[in-house]
Amino acid sequence: MALGVGVIGCGAMGRIHLRNLLARPADIRVVGVCDPRPDQIAAIGLPAEVAVFPDSRELLGHPEIGLVVVASPASLHSSDVVSALEAGKLVYCEKPLVTSMEDHRRITALETHHGRAMVWVGFMRRFDPAFQALKADLDSGAIGPISHGILSHRNPSVPESFTDADYMLETFIHEFDALRWLLDVEIETITVGGKRRTNSGLMDPQFVTLTTNGGQRVMIDGHITNGYGYDIRCELVGERGSRSLVDYAEETGISAAPHATWATRFSGAYRTAIDACIDDVLAQRHTGVTSREAERALAVALSGIEAQRTGRTVSVGVG
Ligand SMILES: NC(=O)c1ccc[n+]([C@@H]2O[C@H](COP(=O)([O-])OP(=O)(O)OC[C@H]3O[C@@H](n4cnc5c(N)ncnc54)[C@H](O)[C@@H]3O)[C@@H](O)[C@H]2O)c1
Repeated sequence: MALGVGVIGCGAMGRIHLRNLLARPADIRVVGVCDPRPDQIAAIGLPAEVAVFPDSRELLGHPEIGLVVVASPASLHSSDVVSALEAGKLVYCEKPLVTSMEDHRRITALETHHGRAMVWVGFMRRFDPAFQALKADLDSGAIGPISHGILSHRNPSVPESFTDADYMLETFIHEFDALRWLLDVEIETITVGGKRRTNSGLMDPQFVTLTTNGGQRVMIDGHITNGYGYDIRCELVGERGSRSLVDYAEETGISAAPHATWATRFSGAYRTAIDACIDDVLAQRHTGVTSREAERALAVALSGIEAQRTGRTVSVGVG
């Protein structure tokens, strides 16, 4: 029988997941969706056989749903992921999985109770061809041990409500996960500086310095109101050379020039990441990003919030 899938949250990200799910072969069936905003559901153009549930509780209670895709705002992830796991369902959850360590522990306790990893986290950079080519080069030893890195995360705009904490939990968390994966290290300390805007109070741009247990130092500039485009850069420097995402533009077909939005830059990665999750579920394995992996990126983000607030270098807890 086809795997039944339900989608919670039909905004920008949820609609991308839905399109990718509906394009899958007949090995899955999108059973239903929920979103409190009818306009968001109308914007999808759902096939008639996909149900619209009044809320996530109804969706999570449906017996034919085995995998739940969570793409609601981050502050709502925890309760739906917990309810899904309590009902024995598997979860693909957008980043950040949750926003506090306490919520995180509830999830890992449930996975421990069930005796397996049940959550796939949408850190899709790991599925992006340019990031994958960079990782392959690093793993081959082509440029020797890495001493440092210089990364950028730039967005044309963010909602008015965006806060310094969101900067860590929604934006830089991608870099924290990608760096851990690319370098196979843990991030030990974080320092944050920046320029505070007078109108919104948001610190933007922000400059993050990380140190790792591999002895590396990594600098990230964030600028999320740049007005010019979505611009993701990553250069890692080794003893015998350096590699940047731009080096793989030709072979991967992913332009290193600024994109209009995150949705265009990572369109392939979103599809590959959710396809990989479904392949895993069907094969009863987990090769994706687990909740335990996501916990490390969350720990760095939470330390980053403290670093923003205090102006100090903060040690990232071991969790
Ligand atoms: N991986 C990435 O690159 C990436 C990119 C963008 C967003 N995201 C993540 O995806 C998630 C959603 O972000 P978005 O940009 O789609 O936001 P969005 O605001 O466009 O969409 C969120 C949707 O959730 C709906 N919603 C609100 N309350 C709900 C509830 N109780 N139950 C069900 N739905 C509810 C809203 O009505 C809205 O349609 C966030 O966690 C965000 O961090 C990830």
